[in-house]
Amino acid sequence: MLFSRRMDNLAPYLFAEAERKIAEKRASGIDVISLGIGDPDLPTPAYIVEEMQRQVADPRNDRYPSNWGLSEYAEATAGFYKRRFGVDLDPAKEFMATLGSKEALAHLCWAMLDPGDLALVPDPGYPVYSGGSIICGAQVRYLNLRPENGFLPDLDEVSSQEAQRAKVLFIGYPNNPTAAVIEDDFFERVVAFAKRYDIAVVHDNAYSELTYDGYVAPSFLATPGAKDVGIELFSFSKPFNMTGWRTGFAVGNHDILAHLWRLKTNLDSGMFDALQRTSAHILNSPWDSVREMCEVYRRRRDLLADALASVGMQAPKPKGTVYMWVPVPAGYTSASFTERVLEQAAVVVTPGRGYGPAGEGFVRLSLTTPDDRIAEAVHRIKDSLKL
Ligand SMILES: Cc1ncc(COP(=O)(O)O)c(C=O)c1O
Repeated sequence: MLFSRRMDNLAPYLFAEAERKIAEKRASGIDVISLGIGDPDLPTPAYIVEEMQRQVADPRNDRYPSNWGLSEYAEATAGFYKRRFGVDLDPAKEFMATLGSKEALAHLCWAMLDPGDLALVPDPGYPVYSGGSIICGAQVRYLNLRPENGFLPDLDEVSSQEAQRAKVLFIGYPNNPTAAVIEDDFFERVVAFAKRYDIAVVHDNAYSELTYDGYVAPSFLATPGAKDVGIELFSFSKPFNMTGWRTGFAVGNHDILAHLWRLKTNLDSGMFDALQRTSAHILNSPWDSVREMCEVYRRRRDLLADALASVGMQAPKPKGTVYMWVPVPAGYTSASFTERVLEQAAVVVTPGRGYGPAGEGFVRLSLTTPDDRIAEAVHRIKDSLKL
């Protein structure tokens, strides 16, 4: 069979190979501990499940949804953005329901990029920014996220020639995989840069609600002028343990959303109305469960950081996300360390190199595993490194 040439340039998704190896080991009876993919281990809160059960039983939700989304979901989102971020949104023009952020990111690339265009992509970065761009035939200009810059890209490194060719800039803070947060005027600099070169900004806001030590993550759209240049993607996956449900939304610049909408009307038929109504219900309800999740992840973060320090691996305690971005011990690459702990300790970590060339020298450890398994994983890593 012959397949599209665009598949030739597309690497398998980062976690696809890891999932195969884990399945193989588990099938042969090995007790694998995964600190790999960021997929919450705890269940979706009961009040959300109960609301979805009610909505599924309601026949008004049986029909095709609209691709923009229900007005009650849009209005609940506008209320949430005002309360939480101080951002005014026009629910009729500045909101669209998305099937999670991954779908939105990949389809935004189709809506924005032609072959030969340039996409500005953080390195390391969530793999869909580069993968989604490459599948459209666009070129990727990596923006190096260096520890000494707080893992923020240095926009001055982009030449004016490159900036003039660039059509889209992907960013996301609290950041996956580095777990960095914004603590300065970076978003202002992004807006100025995007205006100067007429570049669309996509702020991937998947982790704004999972923060620690009193840090409160801002919305990109709270930056003056941000709506002129960009949109923000919000996901229910991580704060509500809903990765399987596929719910989120895109908000901000109407022009970008209208193009995404036109594309998506040709590709999918929108989000199940029952899920949209449930998502609206979540936005209108108290968020005690999110505060509890933050406490769980903070405790695990401290446990993991202390355990790693005791085996000589120093990792800063992040103020956001569900990850730790940890330098590998001397003598290892991110791949050789990952291989070593998988083979000798049956512990899965994600090689930093998988997030882009600048991820070399790091591994990402996820906190979405029970406390006792995290402790056990570090014991096993310690033993495996002695071999
Ligand atoms: C930075 C980032 N963006 C987007 C996603 C995808 O989220 P969703 O489940 O909403 O598709 C993830 C998931 O891990 C992520 O880490």
